[in-house]
Amino acid sequence: MKPEDVRRIGVVGCGIMGSGIVEVCAKAGFEVVVVELNEEAMARGRSRVEGSMAKAVDRGKLEPGARDEALARIGDSTSLDDLADADLVIEAATESLETKLGIFARLDEIVRPDIVLATNTSSLPIAELATVTKRGDRIVGMHFFNPPPVMKLLEIVRALRTSEETLAFARGMGDRLGKTTVLAKDRAGFIVNFLLIPYLNSAIRMLDEGFATREDIDAAVELGLGHPMGPLKLLDLIGLDTGVHVSNVLYDEFKDPIYAAPTLLKRMVTAGYLGRKSGKGFYDYTS
Ligand code: 3HC
Repeated sequence: MKPEDVRRIGVVGCGIMGSGIVEVCAKAGFEVVVVELNEEAMARGRSRVEGSMAKAVDRGKLEPGARDEALARIGDSTSLDDLADADLVIEAATESLETKLGIFARLDEIVRPDIVLATNTSSLPIAELATVTKRGDRIVGMHFFNPPPVMKLLEIVRALRTSEETLAFARGMGDRLGKTTVLAKDRAGFIVNFLLIPYLNSAIRMLDEGFATREDIDAAVELGLGHPMGPLKLLDLIGLDTGVHVSNVLYDEFKDPIYAAPTLLKRMVTAGYLGRKSGKGFYDYTS
């Protein structure tokens, strides 16, 4: 399969990342079939896609007619069986190795054997996902960034068994989706999270030690480094639970304390302060 032959993309999971990936694919002209666990999760996912597209229309980034056409290209389902006709599947389910292994094993049975199965994992080993399939050479990482419709980067992750052909296909698909691709090896954190996590965790330790206020830490990075948002605002966007998860994976892989999740971050997650998605993180989003 060549990128230009792809008509229909399957997306597994319609959470923050999955819904963004669905939007990117539909706006690029692909038919999309998105699969969620149940009707409730599917309805939440669909309203995320609609909300983000409405924002794009408000900001003048998308014509209302193009929005309607893109929405009409999206079909939803609660069964992986509906991905049988997909020309590419991008898995964007919960960051749990067990969950992803189960999904990849099922996809391998359902989806045509020549089709590439990609994962949006931000940190888990792609090589391990390949072990539960009979198409190890056609498993690849396609890691999008939050929010996917806005962020231009797509990290392509090559596992030991990923073929050159699959790699070229993934990069070609990145081009068709309007993203700039970079290539990384299958090592925890790839390029971006390997650099990002120690920085975010340092900002949390700085706050916890009373070294500076949350507003000053964020303002320093925004105004001194020109980042669009400071580290604490960014953690609220990414999700504090995701921050803990990616930190744990990096720490497990490298055993270096710079990756260890700070105590304050772990306690905030325990308390249900997950960032924007729960209404409260380092900042309050309830009002
Ligand atoms: N669709 C299309 N465009 C949109 C949009 C949407 N739904 N929402 C916003 N935009 C566009 C705006 O039009 C604007 O474009 P312009 O610069 O050409 O005018 C631009 O995005 C910025 O929008 P705003 O200034 O209005 O700010 P918002 O508050 O809406 O969005 C943000 C801000 C895009 C989130 C910006 O703050 C940002 O880029 N933050 C950093 C995000 C980041 O670092 N992401 C990576 C996280 S790490 C990750 O994902 C890895 C994971 O594995 C952990």
